[in-house]
Amino acid sequence: MIGILQEGEELMDKGYDGSVMDAALISAAQRVEHYEIAAYGCVHTWAQELGEENVAELLERTLNEEKETDAKLSELAEQINASANSEAEGELDEGEEEEQEEPETTERKGKSRSANA
Ligand SMILES: [Fe+2]
Repeated sequence: MIGILQEGEELMDKGYDGSVMDAALISAAQRVEHYEIAAYGCVHTWAQELGEENVAELLERTLNEEKETDAKLSELAEQINASANSEAEGELDEGEEEEQEEPETTERKGKSRSANA
């Protein structure tokens, strides 16, 4: 779990903008939810195997809450991923327009080469 949380922190340090950052954070949150689903699923099964019906019932409730949260994040991701994709395409298009409008200097050519390498 610590590793999953560290991955989320690393994403926040990437400096993504707008919907791209939102999409990245949703993916990080879903990794946490999937970890929780796996953990609660296992202990729920073990509680059933041990005949601990009250415990199993509580764990099943928690497991279902985790699954609901994951489903809500998936719904959010559908919209936000589309926005992030549009934003990223828009930035690419702007970059192409800028390249066409600005005369290339020797310095700029050097940057283009390294960006495409
Ligand atoms: Fe959760």
